[in-house]
Amino acid sequence: MSQAVVAKPSKPAVCLTKLFINNEWVQPVEGGTFEAYDPATGDVIAEVAAGTAADVDLAAKAARKALETGPWAKMDAADRGNLLFKLAELIQRDSRELAELESLNCGKTITDSIGDLQGVVNTLRYYAGWADKIEGRTVPVRGNFLSYTLRQPVGVVGQIIPWNFPLLMLSWKLGPALACGNTVIMKPAEQTPLTALRIAELAMEAGFPAGVFNVINGFGETAGAAMCTHPEIDKIAFTGHVDTAKIIQRATSETLKRTSYELGGKSPNVVFADANIDDAVAGAFHAIYFHGGQCCTAGSRLFVEEKIRDEFVSKLAAKAKQRRVGNPLDANTEQGPQVSQEQMDKILGYVELGKKQGAKLVTGGERVGDKGFFVNPTIFDGVKDDMAIAKDEIFGPVVSVLPFKSFDEVLDRANRTNYGLAAAIWTKDIDKAHLYAKGVKAGTVWVNCYHIVDATTPFGGFKMSGHGRENGEAALELYTETKTVTVKLG
Ligand code: NAI
Ligand code: MG
Repeated sequence: MSQAVVAKPSKPAVCLTKLFINNEWVQPVEGGTFEAYDPATGDVIAEVAAGTAADVDLAAKAARKALETGPWAKMDAADRGNLLFKLAELIQRDSRELAELESLNCGKTITDSIGDLQGVVNTLRYYAGWADKIEGRTVPVRGNFLSYTLRQPVGVVGQIIPWNFPLLMLSWKLGPALACGNTVIMKPAEQTPLTALRIAELAMEAGFPAGVFNVINGFGETAGAAMCTHPEIDKIAFTGHVDTAKIIQRATSETLKRTSYELGGKSPNVVFADANIDDAVAGAFHAIYFHGGQCCTAGSRLFVEEKIRDEFVSKLAAKAKQRRVGNPLDANTEQGPQVSQEQMDKILGYVELGKKQGAKLVTGGERVGDKGFFVNPTIFDGVKDDMAIAKDEIFGPVVSVLPFKSFDEVLDRANRTNYGLAAAIWTKDIDKAHLYAKGVKAGTVWVNCYHIVDATTPFGGFKMSGHGRENGEAALELYTETKTVTVKLG
């Protein structure tokens, strides 16, 4: 049996986890626990050790020591890359088991979890390759001096991740942080605390030295908040809600920590009448319903050119009605449950609000079954830009269809949001495509495709969708400090 998860004697069916600090499995100082659920049934699947400020303090000290004095501090960059590569190989080896655990706790379909695991492996391999390619420059400074730059780790990094892509978000943060030589304290979301613990086991098996990677499960308001104020933590990287980012921004201001944020969105997906309609229907469907809409990039504002609107909506609705919603571990299932009762209630609340504010419910809008947290694919037509369902991030399978007539009009309306994470356009007109890509305020723009995200391409938001870019070479900026060294010559 894994050391991360041991049977609890009083409840043999339920496991009790520990925290992972300094390559050891430890009980939380205050001894608290919380429950992890299977969102497909609502059943408790594990008792999870809840870290608090005292555990964050132990992890910060271990991470500081590893950063400054341990073998990690002296390790060749190439060897850091080799360790990351080894971790990627071990994840690949165990990817089926990891995917099943991800689906069990997060509710995403097994097909999607397998896809996520491939993304995790790709990301870690990509950053393994970067480890010995993070170079400074020589600078043609004035005077008789040699100036050059060194790129050094930021230090101890706290990484606070969400529940919608637990392992993929872990890899986006862990890969570049370790490639750059930082040490990490990872705080998974309280809804999905389990798979990060298996990664900790694999990191030990790969041979990462003690203190380089630590996992503290627990609540945002306790464990997460303690990370944001701890003086030994140099940076917080966060993915989650805008309001949480504001709290973190305030909490980290006292120690002026570096921060990077990947937040939500209300992404405009624009379909012109000259597009291949069937491709656009399939693309708009995937844009909103992938992982039950629990994606920061979900195409939740669907702008459809007025003259194709009726045809488009009826084709989209026909597909929505056929979607197989059910057990995420069944390979035939297309959509699993929402992650929690809280999320399901939030989504159904927005459905009621949409109806009350006068949008037309075309299909869906209901809970499926009376066990687990399932919501069927939902379409609202005739939505106005100022309705709550068109403005707020719902984070569920709910799309707002917004008709438009002209390019200038739709670009202007697409940009009328505080968010700016992603945007898409469906058209055969190359001028429209590039003008939209240039004019839309979003960190990612898709032309005739959606949700194409890769380890190699920068990802992040304009406006309130975040600070900084993850993935690609850009993420190295988030995890290095640049130092200028100037030497007097002669
Ligand atoms: P959240 O932002 O509260 O949680 C994300 C992470 O932040 C979790 O690990 C949580 O423990 C931590 N956290 C919460 N409060 C904190 C604090 N005061 N200090 C430090 N860490 C803290 O998001 P939540 O409540 O799970 O979901 C609410 C909504 O947020 C969703 O309905 C969705 O709209 C949005 N969201 C967006 C995500 C994205 O990918 N951009 C991911 C998850 C949620
Ligand atoms: Mg929250």
